[in-house]
Amino acid sequence: MINRSDGGDGVSDSGQEEGYSRGLQARRTTKSGLWIILRPIKPGDAGGYKVFLESLSDQSVYFKFFRHIRATDDFVEKMMDVDHVRQEVILAFPDEETEEKILGMARYDLNPDESTAEVYFGVREDFQNRGIGRELLTHLVEVARKRGLKGFTAEVMVDNRRMLHLFRSLEGKEFNIRRRMEAGVFYLHMDFL
Ligand SMILES: CC(C)(COP(=O)(O)OP(=O)(O)OC[C@H]1O[C@@H](n2cnc3c(N)ncnc32)[C@H](O)[C@@H]1OP(=O)(O)O)[C@@H](O)C(=O)NCCC(=O)NCCS
Repeated sequence: MINRSDGGDGVSDSGQEEGYSRGLQARRTTKSGLWIILRPIKPGDAGGYKVFLESLSDQSVYFKFFRHIRATDDFVEKMMDVDHVRQEVILAFPDEETEEKILGMARYDLNPDESTAEVYFGVREDFQNRGIGRELLTHLVEVARKRGLKGFTAEVMVDNRRMLHLFRSLEGKEFNIRRRMEAGVFYLHMDFL
C-alpha cells in the first residue's frame, strides 16, 4: 500500500537529489510572485527548523499544534524524526537565498489505515498569505499520490479561516471533502479524486 518514491515523474526538476528526496523536489512561483523551492526535510535542517518554529506567533502555534509549545531542542529533535514513509515533511525555502531560512512546512503522518494521512501546515508569520501554503498543499497531494495514498485527514479549528479556505479551494479538483464539526474543530476527510 505504501510506495517509496521512485522519482522522475515531473515533480522534480533536479536530477542530483539524494535518494530520500528523489522526485519530490519542486520549484514553484506563488500567487504573489515569490519563487520557492519545496523539498523533503533532511537532518541538517534542525537549526533552521528551530528558527522557523520560533518565528510562529502564539496563535499560529495554537492553530498548528492545538496547544502552546516551546521549540526546545528535544521538541525539534522529535519533529525531525521523519522516516519518509510513515511520515513526510516538505519544507519551503526562498529560491534565491541561503537554504537556512525555512519559509514553511507541510507534514503528513500515516493514519492506522495506512492509506490516508493526517496533515499539518505552517508558514513563517512574515510570509503568510502570500501563496506558500497553497503550493505546500498541492505539492503534498502530489507526494502522497506518488506514495499510493488515497486521501488526507485534518483537524482544523473553526476560526482558522485561512486553512479551511485553502482546503475548500481544492474541493472537487484534487479531492472531495467529508466534514464533521465538534467542539470548535472541523474533522476533515479529503478523498483524492
Ligand atoms: C494556514 C497557513 C498554513 C496557510 O498558509 P499561507 O501561506 O498563509 O496561505 P496562502 O497564502 O497560500 O493561502 C491563504 C488563502 O486563504 C485566504 N484567506 C486569507 N485570510 C482569510 C480569511 N480570514 N478567511 C478566508 N480566507 C482567507 C487567502 O485569500 C488565500 O486564498 P487564495 O489563494 O484563494 O487567495 C498559514 O497561514 C499558517 O501557518 N497559519 C498558522 C498555522 C496553521 O493554522 N496551520 C494549519 C493547521 S492544519
